[in-house]
Amino acid sequence: MRLRIWPVLALLLLINSCKTNVPAGSKQTVDPYRSQVDSVLALMTLDEKIGQMTIFTTDWESTGPTIREGYQNDIRNGNCGALFNSHTVAFTRKLQEIAVKESRLGIPLLFGYDVIHGYKTIFPIPLGESCSWDLAAIEQSAAIAAAESAAAGLHWTFAPMVDISREPRWGRVMEGAGEDPYLGSLIARARVHGFQGDNFNGTDKILACIKHFAGYGAPIAGRDYNTVDMSMRMFRDVYLPPYEAGIAAGARTIMTSFNELDGVPSTGNKWLLNDVLRKENGFTGFVVTDYTSINEMVNHGFAADDKHAGELAANAGVDMDMQGAVFQRYLKESIAAGVVSEKTVDEAVRRILRIKFELGLFKDPFKYCNEAREKAEVFSQANLEASRAIARKSIVLLKNDNKTLPLTKGKSIALVGPLAADRENLIGAWSGAGEGDKCVSVYDAFRERAAKDGFRLTHAKGCAIQGDDTSGFSEAVSISRDADIIIAVVGESKEMSGEASSRAFITLPGVQEQMIKELVATGKPVVVVLMNGRPLTFPWIAEHAAAIVETWWTGSRGGLAIADILYGDYNPSAKLTMTFPRDIGQVPIFYSQKNTGRPYDPNTKWNSRYQDIVNSPQYPFGFGLSYTTFTYDSLKVSGKQYTFKDTIVASVKITNTGSVKGEEIVQLYVRDLVGSVTRPVKELKGFEKVMLAPGESKNVIFKLTSNDLAFHTADMTFKAEPGTFWIMAGPDSERLQKREIRLIE
Ligand code: NOJ
Repeated sequence: MRLRIWPVLALLLLINSCKTNVPAGSKQTVDPYRSQVDSVLALMTLDEKIGQMTIFTTDWESTGPTIREGYQNDIRNGNCGALFNSHTVAFTRKLQEIAVKESRLGIPLLFGYDVIHGYKTIFPIPLGESCSWDLAAIEQSAAIAAAESAAAGLHWTFAPMVDISREPRWGRVMEGAGEDPYLGSLIARARVHGFQGDNFNGTDKILACIKHFAGYGAPIAGRDYNTVDMSMRMFRDVYLPPYEAGIAAGARTIMTSFNELDGVPSTGNKWLLNDVLRKENGFTGFVVTDYTSINEMVNHGFAADDKHAGELAANAGVDMDMQGAVFQRYLKESIAAGVVSEKTVDEAVRRILRIKFELGLFKDPFKYCNEAREKAEVFSQANLEASRAIARKSIVLLKNDNKTLPLTKGKSIALVGPLAADRENLIGAWSGAGEGDKCVSVYDAFRERAAKDGFRLTHAKGCAIQGDDTSGFSEAVSISRDADIIIAVVGESKEMSGEASSRAFITLPGVQEQMIKELVATGKPVVVVLMNGRPLTFPWIAEHAAAIVETWWTGSRGGLAIADILYGDYNPSAKLTMTFPRDIGQVPIFYSQKNTGRPYDPNTKWNSRYQDIVNSPQYPFGFGLSYTTFTYDSLKVSGKQYTFKDTIVASVKITNTGSVKGEEIVQLYVRDLVGSVTRPVKELKGFEKVMLAPGESKNVIFKLTSNDLAFHTADMTFKAEPGTFWIMAGPDSERLQKREIRLIE
């Protein structure tokens, strides 16, 4: 008969529960819940401990290959301490009841889910949001996602993904913040804070999970899951900072990555999980693996079999096995053989139980199960409005010849393209429990405006996203001939980006570009509205379209936000956070390159260039247009020479010289001219987003310290080196003014 000691345990915890309101994620070296955690640990069998180190997917949804069924018995038997892909109050309550009422110790379950850019109310994809450079808006988007998830029974999101990536072929760039470590770190912090807030005292915050630790965004050739191989300096200067920023912001969990780094898979990488994560960065939360990544160490050629893989993972510092069932099957055996110590297991279980205490689950396992709250919070009007607001901030205007945009009210419009009336794709990849059919499409939004404003609107799909069927072209061309302006909504389907969705060619799929050529041939101005999850290459369109608007996947209210932009009800302010190449042959291409010994010169042969294409991208990092114009006065720097203790003050006056109010993202870059190791030609070190009325000016001031000039030097210490630097400011990473300064000892 099952031993029912839940009441005993509850009593025990009550006695010990003197201290609770602990700030989320504070890097406390002393565990405030230690005595309570230990009192639970003391009651646990080894099997139950291993159970806490195990997470399974339920059979509701799948985010990877399903290798495991019968999870309800696992809960009952104390063989599983967390679940993912299960949500809603009704379902999580049912499972929590099994854990609390039917398992021997009644330890509450933790419910995780991939809430990447919204739970039900879907926000723009993270790459899109990053183009807003608006940290408050990004934090708010994560906070709303947390509030909806928490209202639907969830405790934990597997986000933010903070992997830096310079690889547009890699489908998961849509989930990150782009190519730059400085901006990526600030966004990591904003998102962690949005999800977790200051503490878990209320019921609207969930655990964040920094992922994928580490280096997952740099797979060779952009192929998902592929080998990662980079110098330690590159790792520490570029790829590691956003994870560190997320940890410093208090993220309570972290996920290992699928890839290897310098020959060692992350899930078995003791240096990464123990030294870098816990010792250097003081991480006190728990480490979960990615989906079956323990088992995959066998394929990597790092472990002989699953049992060996489990030993490597446990000894490296993994606390929780996601979906692999390796700990469940073999850890006890490995402990008996003395290959893994019970102390290691106890430490992992302590870390997991501590988080359950921090969340308040031992006090009330059903804290997140309130149907009334779920009904009020999920898909609330306020959440949908917030989604529309940040969607507008994420849309980048790439081209606007002859002031084609904003659209003149009253003009007739031909709305064409496979994504014009599409709702399903607006939610984009990794859209949680999002419901595409509830989105507002571009066509929906334009129909609403046409009904109100009385202009003529026609619509034709023209072609599908993929495939070679051109039979719809004639209708698209025919309605276009009769219109004043053509809006072509084209791009990728949501399945073309995200996990396991690398592409070797990043052009517009199918016959979409061919259709645009026919539309341009009508002689009518063509506005190309792009929906996609990665930078694409479209040189012909870049040359011939009258206007180009990069909207990414904008979420639940995407169509409305796009119409707001196209009509000028919102003046576009976003700027790219990933470089757009002209051609796939230039990849990897990013703004922060090195100068090389033979810097680019298009007029001579013997330098670092291609024979068949220029080096420059189609659109550089930091680029984006507005419906107004901004001028930059001369950049001023407070001095010529600075010591390590001084503050370098750079300032530049910006004026709105156009006729509408608008926001400009003023960017500051630095270059260290001579180093003990070579330095990139530019590195972003500051930015400010300023709203200016027509004719209005603002002096934007940046303050730098020697720490902002630091890097991993020849001996791998992180410091600035004395010497000459350029301080550069401008509207994007290419159009920069520079001033020279010296840093002296
Ligand atoms: C695999 C993905 O790499 C990871 O990001 C995700 O959180 C898990 N599957 C769970 O769905």
